[in-house]
Amino acid sequence: MGSLMKIVVLLYVTSAVLCTPFINQLQPGQEWPTRSSVKQPKPDESQKVTDGVVKETEDAIEVDKAPEAISELKVTPEKKVDYSGCQVWKVTTTHTGAKKVISQLASEKLISSWGGNHSTVDVLVKPKVIENVTSVLNSKNIPYDIVIEDLQQVINEENPPLDENEIELQDRRGHRMTWKQYHRVEDIHGFMDYLAKTYPSLVSVNTIGKSVEGRDLKVLRISDGKPTNKAIFIDGGIHAREWISPAVVTYFINQFAENFDVESDDIKNIDWYFLPVVNPDGYEYTHTTDRLWRKNRRRYSVCVGTDLNRNFGYHWGGKGASNSPCRDIYRGAAAFSEPESKAIADFVGSIATKFSAYLTYHSYGQYLLYPWGYDNVVPPDYKELQAVGEQIAGAIKKTGGSSYSVGSSSGLLYPASGGSDDWAKSQGIKYSYTIELSDTGRYGFVLPASKIEPVARENLAGLRVLAHQVCKE
Ligand SMILES: *[C@@H]1O[C@H](CO)[C@@H](O)[C@H](O)[C@H]1NC(C)=O
Ligand SMILES: *[C@@H]1O[C@H](CO)[C@@H](O)[C@H](O)[C@H]1NC(C)=O
Ligand SMILES: [Zn+2]
Repeated sequence: MGSLMKIVVLLYVTSAVLCTPFINQLQPGQEWPTRSSVKQPKPDESQKVTDGVVKETEDAIEVDKAPEAISELKVTPEKKVDYSGCQVWKVTTTHTGAKKVISQLASEKLISSWGGNHSTVDVLVKPKVIENVTSVLNSKNIPYDIVIEDLQQVINEENPPLDENEIELQDRRGHRMTWKQYHRVEDIHGFMDYLAKTYPSLVSVNTIGKSVEGRDLKVLRISDGKPTNKAIFIDGGIHAREWISPAVVTYFINQFAENFDVESDDIKNIDWYFLPVVNPDGYEYTHTTDRLWRKNRRRYSVCVGTDLNRNFGYHWGGKGASNSPCRDIYRGAAAFSEPESKAIADFVGSIATKFSAYLTYHSYGQYLLYPWGYDNVVPPDYKELQAVGEQIAGAIKKTGGSSYSVGSSSGLLYPASGGSDDWAKSQGIKYSYTIELSDTGRYGFVLPASKIEPVARENLAGLRVLAHQVCKE
């Protein structure tokens, strides 16, 4: 090989190696400050969070129970789980004993629960047991509606291919995100890198860890760098099957990054940190194999996956979490045993800025939930969380018409310990909310992609209310 040739090859290889890191590299003067680099204020005793007012408890159906019902449907690993003939029913549970009957059916693995509230529960019923469950409910006079007649059909129609115009636009735009479709992790991460490249003085991307299977956990920051800025952390996709969540979080990113110059002062006076896909392994698995997968993809001897939203280190292992890896609400081997939850904790703990708010987007049910989740108790400042939650719900309703219920997660739903919102609150982050996006059960987890824009738009209005509150304080 001639020496010129060698140099050309060397240059080519060097740039190929460097190119990928370059995209992700933070711009000069834009390094995210670490806690050790900045003098921290003394902890403010008045802000210290302690467990407070105890509310009365009420027996509720553990909504996440009995995912095992699904596993029998599994075919070969390369094939997708087929939900043909599976139905989703909304069952009324206000009759005496109805909750017991549902729990019993769930423990016999005849049904699995999707979600619900104190008066109804949505359950998935497999074709083989439809007759049996029907006769049980009828014999106990428990009313129900069939909401989804054939789950596989809804899954098939949920995420239709883009039309030609959209595909052409995608090619011209420099990234593939559309908000007319649910996208794979590659598209979401590509979009984040695109923004960092396109707006280097405003947007930066940092990989804060790796998933169990080695995928990047990418955080995107939007900040004009003013030292007086407040800070908000937002994540999505902790639960794999809740596709609307990463779609909505990336919609926020797009709005703020592409329109920053004309955005409100509230938006400009905040350092925004977004982790749109907390659970990339699970998310990919819902695209390739099982649409209804919830947990991460950690392999155990028999079963797979930890529920990342039971793995955070505040009251870890308490109520509403399971110690069995075969359950959908498995808490993991220890608090922060999973790299995905650990990465969030390490990151929030390492960054110099004190976050004023932590928002974690889930689906479904249309709830704005604040701590505590671990038990039916509320923090001392719960009235403020309730009031701000109601303002957010008001803005959502006014913008898009959807009604969101506001309350503590244990009170409005059921106790669930080891949640990320409880942990964030325990770290002194005042406005910590779990937001359960649309809908209220018509489609549940398999919300059609045509709903992404309306759901995102009304929730952006809600986010503006929170931004205003944070900037006011
Ligand atoms: C139907 O359900 C009942 C009660 O759960 C159970 O005892 C029975 O074995 C079931 N029958 C069939 C055919 O699955
Ligand atoms: C529970 O959900 C049902 C349907 O999703 C709704 O009609 C009802 O108002 C809800 N009840 C409460 C107490 O939130
Ligand atoms: Zn969730």
